[in-house]
Amino acid sequence: MQAGDTLAHTLRHTLGLLGTKVSCDRGACGACTVLLHGRAVASCTLLTVECDGGHVTTIEGLADSASGALHPLQQSFIDHTAFQCGFCTPGILMSAKALLDQNPAPTLEDIKEALSGNHCRCITHYHVLEAVQDAVARTQAAAQDAVPRTQAGAPNGVERMR
Ligand code: FES
Ligand code: FES
Repeated sequence: MQAGDTLAHTLRHTLGLLGTKVSCDRGACGACTVLLHGRAVASCTLLTVECDGGHVTTIEGLADSASGALHPLQQSFIDHTAFQCGFCTPGILMSAKALLDQNPAPTLEDIKEALSGNHCRCITHYHVLEAVQDAVARTQAAAQDAVPRTQAGAPNGVERMR
């Protein structure tokens, strides 16, 4: 690794993590988006040395490392065919992941704003918005299922007797 290497270059060429894509290489397209301390950043605009000691998450880290299960965003993108060539997809997924981690119930406008720096030359934007909205719904449904029935207000105990 050279002192002047960008984070994107190090991820791809030193670490072999080829999921992170590079297109414009100047912070304009979002293809190289990764998470740095949970925030979406353009990895082509950061020097690797600037990230020393930082926690970086790439698309390779989005699926559940223990079970291998896809992240709800990944599954939704597949179900909604929210990609064509797929070159922009890792960056979009990482931007969406950062949004959902900070705001589990984003509005459509929130989603548009969060993805405004990610460009898709295949014009999949409508499918992407649908996929992210669906991932939000799935995540909320899963969280609801995980709540014990008594906390969820399901018929149980005292409530059932009324
Ligand atoms: S390759 Fe980094 S923003 Fe375009
Ligand atoms: S799917 Fe081709 S650039 Fe977005």
